[in-house]
Amino acid sequence: MQIVAKTFQGLEEILAKELEALGASNINIVSRAVECEGDQQLLYRMNYELRTAVRVLVKFFSFKTKHENHLYKKIQEIDWSEHIALQDTFAIDATTYSKYLTHSKYLSLKVKDAIVDQLREKYDGQRPSIDLNAPTLRLQIHFNKDNQCTVLWDSSGQSLHKRGYRVASVLAPINEVLAAGLILLSGWKGDCPLIDPMCGSGTIPIEAAMYASQIPPQFKRKTFGFMTWKDFDAELWEDVRKTANAKIKMTEVPILGFDRDVNAVKIAEENVDTIGLDEVIEINWRDFLTLPPQTEKGVIIMNPPYDERLGEEDIEAFYRNIGDQLKKSFSGFDAWLISSNLEALKFIGLKPSRKIMLFNAALECRFQKYELYAGTKKIHKAEQ
Ligand SMILES: C[S@@+](CC[C@H](N)C(=O)[O-])C[C@H]1O[C@@H](n2cnc3c(N)ncnc32)[C@H](O)[C@@H]1O
Repeated sequence: MQIVAKTFQGLEEILAKELEALGASNINIVSRAVECEGDQQLLYRMNYELRTAVRVLVKFFSFKTKHENHLYKKIQEIDWSEHIALQDTFAIDATTYSKYLTHSKYLSLKVKDAIVDQLREKYDGQRPSIDLNAPTLRLQIHFNKDNQCTVLWDSSGQSLHKRGYRVASVLAPINEVLAAGLILLSGWKGDCPLIDPMCGSGTIPIEAAMYASQIPPQFKRKTFGFMTWKDFDAELWEDVRKTANAKIKMTEVPILGFDRDVNAVKIAEENVDTIGLDEVIEINWRDFLTLPPQTEKGVIIMNPPYDERLGEEDIEAFYRNIGDQLKKSFSGFDAWLISSNLEALKFIGLKPSRKIMLFNAALECRFQKYELYAGTKKIHKAEQ
């Protein structure tokens, strides 16, 4: 079958590497997604083991269309009773880049009407219900800019960032999939200490510890869309889970999170406990800016506040202080920092050795690497 894994813009290549490791074939990178071919086992493994996929979809059929009535007709060419039973509930999401069919909500309604009208006739006036929250079947309809409409089954159900460990959260938590993407992009292999000095609800340390301990990202999650499909193979699913879980080996490398907000520390600790990583991750109530020079070398991955809304009155001075502290106390570290505040990033005052463009939802961000060594010089904003 043809499978599409959706992701964040900027994480496509990392996701393709994950797919390669799972043994997928014909891997093809597209915008915000990676396509591949595989069987049911791969489909289950993709849902359970991919750290950087948001959703896993299976291509159903595809056709060109520019007109809503033509869309309705093409959708009705499928015998939907072969796929949707009367007791099923379903939901349809649409995305469109077509210049003719532009309103995604309207398009999903049109497709829903085509399916329901056909099924009502088939089931003597009765029809399956729509359930937008927890349907047994979810369809995605995608219209590209060349007017190609593709209908896909959503095998994930809820978005895969819902790993099941985040029981509490701070104001601006980073998405779990993005956090995992940052860790993989940084090249950290779990072979040296990792610190998130502004850890909020603990997402980066948790994703790092799960990766380093080979804990499948969906270890805590109980439900996936494919479980309510007609062809759900419970034995195969159990086998996929057991095989992946057998690789778990708790890391012994220190993974640390700090936050200056005592409430964030409590939240992070709760999340860490939920996933059972309290012996691997240490969360501390500390102000990053006052940490003493570190003796052990390692990797920093941080997601500082982007703007004044998160309580920083002078955001430029805040970023300048981060740069000073990195230089002063983290010699020998590689520090990675993600922010959408491109102006404030210049005030770090250190020369990044890598800059990666990423999207955090709609926010365009930079994920920048600073290699800190004893002679690292602070540079002036103008020089950057
Ligand atoms: C954008 S949030 C981080 C969100 C986090 N990645 C998560 O997934 O929940 C920024 C965090 O930085 C913390 N923070 C801001 N200044 C700090 C400082 N000087 N030292 C430690 N933490 C700080 C805030 O308390 C907040 O929790």
